[in-house]
Amino acid sequence: MTYKNILLDKEENLAVITINRPQVLNALNAELLHELEDAIENLATDSRVRVLILTGAGDKAFVAGADIAYMQNMTVSEGKEFGLLGQRVFKMIEDFPKPTIAAVNGYALGGGCELAMVCDIRVASDNAKFGQPEVSLGIIPGFGGTQRLVRLVGPGKAKELIYTGEIIDAQTAFQIGLVNHVVKQDELLSFAKELAKRIVGNAPLALRYAKEAINNGMEMDLERGLMLEANLFGVCFSSLDQKEGMKAFLERRKPSFQGK
Ligand code: HXC
Repeated sequence: MTYKNILLDKEENLAVITINRPQVLNALNAELLHELEDAIENLATDSRVRVLILTGAGDKAFVAGADIAYMQNMTVSEGKEFGLLGQRVFKMIEDFPKPTIAAVNGYALGGGCELAMVCDIRVASDNAKFGQPEVSLGIIPGFGGTQRLVRLVGPGKAKELIYTGEIIDAQTAFQIGLVNHVVKQDELLSFAKELAKRIVGNAPLALRYAKEAINNGMEMDLERGLMLEANLFGVCFSSLDQKEGMKAFLERRKPSFQGK
C-alpha cells in the first residue's frame, strides 16, 4: 500500500510513523486510519523493528482530533462505523507486540489524545496540549477516550476533562500522569529516540511478554494478573534470549538478543 497520509521511516531497530496531514493539523479520517492499520500490521512482523515511535508532521500538532469536516454529515451508522474503525486500529497499536512511544509535538486533542493514550509511553514537547473537547462538538470521545483516560488518570480527573472539554498544557498533563516526560520541542524526537534506544538493547520477547502482562493484567483482578505473569515468566525460559541474557550476565559481557 502506498501511503498518502502517513510517513514511515525505519532507522536501525526503530520505526517512526508520522501522521502527515499538517494542513488540517494531522486530523484523522478513514483513509488515514486504513493506512495506519496497514503500516502497523507490517511493522508487527518486521523483526528488525523493535520499538515504534508515533508523531505528527509539523511543529503545531500531533493530531488535532478526528477530521471534523469529514464527520460533519455522518449518519448514526456511519458514526458508529467510523468509531469502530478507529477503535480497531487504536487497539492494534495498543496490542502492538513491541514497545511504542508517542512523541507528542503539539495539539493532541480528541482522537489525537486517544492515539497518544494507546502508546506505551508518552513524551510531550513543551508546547503540547491535550484534551478531549468532543462534547463541545456535540459528540463524545469515540476512539477509546472514555475508557483509556479513566485508566490513565483516574475517573475524577477524566470526567472533569471530558465534561469541560478543557485543553491542558504539557506540564499539567505531566502532573496528572498523562505524559511521562516534557522536553523542549526541538529535542522531542531525539529524546524519544534515545528512550527507544534504551529499550532496544533488551530482549524483544521479554519486552513483548512484559507488555502483554501489563496490558492484559490491568483488565484482571490481582490474582489472575499474577497467574498471567507467572505463565509468561515461565514462557520466557523457552526462549534463546533468556539463555543468552543470563549467560552474558555470568560471563560479564553485553547480551546479544535475537528475539527468539
Ligand atoms: C478538521 C481541523 C481539525 C480537525 C484543525 N483543523 N483541527 N480540520 N478536523 N479536528 C483545521 C482547521 O479547520 C484549519 O483549516 C487548520 O486545521 C488549522 O487550524 P486552525 O483552527 O486555524 O488553527 P488554530 O487557530 O491554531 O487552532 C488550533 C486548534 C483548533 C485549537 C487545534 O484547530 C481546534 O480546536 N481544532 C479542533 C480540535 C477538536 O475539536 N478536536 C476533536 C475532534 S472530534 P483551514 O482550512 O481553516 O486552514 C474527535 C472525535 C474522535 O477527535 C472520535 C471519533 C469517532
